[in-house]
Amino acid sequence: MKAKQIKPGIYWVGAIDWNVRDFHGYVTPRGTTYNNFLIMDRKIALIDTVKYDFADTMFERIRCLTNPEKIRIAVCNHIEMDHAGSWDRVMSLAKKATLYCTERAREGLERHFDTTGWDIQTVGTGDTVKTGEKTLMFIETPMLHWPDSMMTYIREDRLLISQDAFGQHFAQAALFDDLVQEQELLEDAVIDYYANILMPFGRLIKAKIAELQRMGLEIDMIAPDHGVIWRKNPEKVIKMYLDMAEGRAREGIVIVYDTMWHSTERMSRAILDGILDEGVYAEVIKLRETPMSVAIKQFWKYRGLLVGTPTLNNLMFPTVAEFLQHLRGLRPQHRIASAFGSYGWGGGGVREALGILKSMKLEVVEPGFEVKYRPMGEDYRQGYDFGRLFARKVVEYHSGFE
Ligand code: FEO
Repeated sequence: MKAKQIKPGIYWVGAIDWNVRDFHGYVTPRGTTYNNFLIMDRKIALIDTVKYDFADTMFERIRCLTNPEKIRIAVCNHIEMDHAGSWDRVMSLAKKATLYCTERAREGLERHFDTTGWDIQTVGTGDTVKTGEKTLMFIETPMLHWPDSMMTYIREDRLLISQDAFGQHFAQAALFDDLVQEQELLEDAVIDYYANILMPFGRLIKAKIAELQRMGLEIDMIAPDHGVIWRKNPEKVIKMYLDMAEGRAREGIVIVYDTMWHSTERMSRAILDGILDEGVYAEVIKLRETPMSVAIKQFWKYRGLLVGTPTLNNLMFPTVAEFLQHLRGLRPQHRIASAFGSYGWGGGGVREALGILKSMKLEVVEPGFEVKYRPMGEDYRQGYDFGRLFARKVVEYHSGFE
């Protein structure tokens, strides 16, 4: 396996994980890559590693260029194990290397590895290290997406190695953005990754991009630690991130529901008819048939959310509760929501769903819509009317963002 040059003297030495479909609980239908980079300069530098299972692949690529024992500079941008998992193997070979990382990363590395004998030097924003001809500058990015996170900028090459930011779970051998299908990359991979991993950090993302702009860094390539490297138009992904961080969404509604005896499902169809008759785009997701991360991604694309839940033991149906629990952790903003569902006697599912949506500080349309046991004639008309009403609310709310 070969190393691949991405800039003069800078090589990708990472791994393609074609087969991973469950990335710590989030589905990755396209697999992923673990990108890391070797700089062949007077001092050889390795920036990040790969998931432990792929360490041999990484060493094979490095050995195409040099003996890993010759690495003198090691940069750990992020300690999550898909990138830091092979540092013990690297450091056991590269005994003369100095490892550069943030203070929080040093603490984390010491909790993951026996770092006795490692030469670790902590760095902060603006600190630099020369490899010879090239200058590595570090930029701390705390909580993007872990407290230890940082990026490495190589001034002479206008290259930003951005760790998880701007990444995608998108296994491909082409390496660069201009060599893959753009629609698949932007629509699926970038939005999916942002929605499921970076959604809670929109405010920080805006602030960090503004800081990079203030620093006046010239960037003509962004190399994240997953997926393709942005060389054709790195501004495009930065703009997408800024838009998503602003909470930009499409005018449309996603109905996310589950059902016990099809009553809530039937209600969803009447509601959908009402939405469509208002001329608003809508999609329907049944939770038991859909991976959680797909439901989250579809939620993130649209301005409106309707949650459909039967009542079970006076509470929401468990899959709906799980969905809202995931969503709550992702701290979405700038979305309007409501809930509907059937119940048998005491009710409670819709009330609980509305309560959680309100606790997330979303714009909530109350009182939602409930039906006892199963929808019949008049219930369908009311469901249709509820769909029309909610669609109008979405259009009105969305107009405030245009
Ligand atoms: Fe790809 Fe935060 O690790």
